[in-house]
Amino acid sequence: MSIWRTKTIEQSIQDTDEPGHRLRRDLSGLDLIVFGIGVIIGTGIFVVTGRQAAENAGPAIIAAFLVAGLVCALAAMCYAEFASTVPVAGSAYTFGYATLGEFVAWVIGWDLVLEFTLAASVVAVGWSEYAGDLIGTPTSVPVGGGYSVDLGAMAIVVLLGLVSVMGAKLSGRVTAVVVTVKVGIVLFIIAVGAFYVDTANWTPFVPPAEPVPTGTGSIGHQPLTQVMLGLEPSSFGLWGVIAAASVVFFSFIGFDVVATTAEETRNPRRDIPVGIFGSLVIVTILYMAVAAVVTGMRPYTELGVDAPLAEAFRAVGADWAATLISLGGVIGITTVILVLMMGQSRVAFAMSRDGLLPRGLSRTHPRFGTPYVMAAITTVSVALLAGLVPIGTLEEMVNIGTLFAFVVVSLGVIVLRRTRPDLPRAFRAPWVPVLPAVSALACVWLMLNLTVDTWIRFVVWMLLGTVVYFLYGVRRSRLA
Ligand code: ALA
Repeated sequence: MSIWRTKTIEQSIQDTDEPGHRLRRDLSGLDLIVFGIGVIIGTGIFVVTGRQAAENAGPAIIAAFLVAGLVCALAAMCYAEFASTVPVAGSAYTFGYATLGEFVAWVIGWDLVLEFTLAASVVAVGWSEYAGDLIGTPTSVPVGGGYSVDLGAMAIVVLLGLVSVMGAKLSGRVTAVVVTVKVGIVLFIIAVGAFYVDTANWTPFVPPAEPVPTGTGSIGHQPLTQVMLGLEPSSFGLWGVIAAASVVFFSFIGFDVVATTAEETRNPRRDIPVGIFGSLVIVTILYMAVAAVVTGMRPYTELGVDAPLAEAFRAVGADWAATLISLGGVIGITTVILVLMMGQSRVAFAMSRDGLLPRGLSRTHPRFGTPYVMAAITTVSVALLAGLVPIGTLEEMVNIGTLFAFVVVSLGVIVLRRTRPDLPRAFRAPWVPVLPAVSALACVWLMLNLTVDTWIRFVVWMLLGTVVYFLYGVRRSRLA
């Protein structure tokens, strides 16, 4: 019984043809770009940007987006190589299984479950806030004792859960329409917002570092780097920009999800790199432009509000534009929730097909060809989390989980070049092993700039996963 056993790539590819556990292949490269943008642009740019500008980076939030985008570009090279070599559902999980062994694969799979489930929940809550903003009444209902139930978030999750069961084709069509609206509204923000920019708001570009008040529990809110280096706890300054980069990284999450659909593309070797890079380049440009416009419209100190993009327009008297942006946000953010939920059911599907989770969970629907059992479980979990748990700043948890998966994928590229130099690679990352090594280090660096509390929660979740593996997967694995 070896926890380092690997699943051969040939075996992974062959498994995708197993009757009753097979996904339909009908997505093209363009579908993937649309799909990528559909999941990438969401609560990150619509909500997180404003808060990070106000609390950590000021106008230099523009630079924070560039830093996060560059780190993603490095990781994207690695993802593209992997997904074009191992075109099988499950993304980093499958890659890990082929290179670093079953235990590492399990750890990544468990980690991705955290990423997708929490991300879908966080984004659903962001959606609900914009929905409340649009209809002029909060969609989260207080139930006493200081608790509230986010009915808006729960409703959208259940609705999208049904869509995801009905199949990628339908979801793909819906996604295309939504993405058009969403990109349109982002371009609208940039174009109209530009008229309201007061360049004085861009100075100071990097606000000087400010000490933050210390007290009980405050250490948990500090980036791990600052604590490790024994620095005076501070916000803003250069450290603030890096901390902001590690948080706005959330806005880029999703290009990696494109790789989880490898098994559903017609020609994964070409479509996957096109989908990953196409969507990443487009959103990086849009994000930096939005950040520039919004920090130009308002002093950064005023951006830490709910629905900051709409509020920036309201504050300059363009109420009509604010309403339009809220509407665009509500329509646009839906696909993010949908794709994250699909990503979650695909990863768990792959884990179950391999026997690391009970096999019954990976049954596909006889008519729709979708992993409907996992989709149902995902829907219920995300709805409960989004509806009942005060999500707050949990996007950092999502980031740490995602960055961890990026680290493993980057290292996996180096390993696979050594262990399987023979495999055809439609996309080859340049400068291996230097580029993947730099990618891994850059991701670790961003991880270290997340807060101490985030690290503690992450470590607890991963330890829990380790226990589950040794109680179940290690014996039930199909490789065993
Ligand atoms: N990147 C996605 C968002 O910004 C998760 O909502």
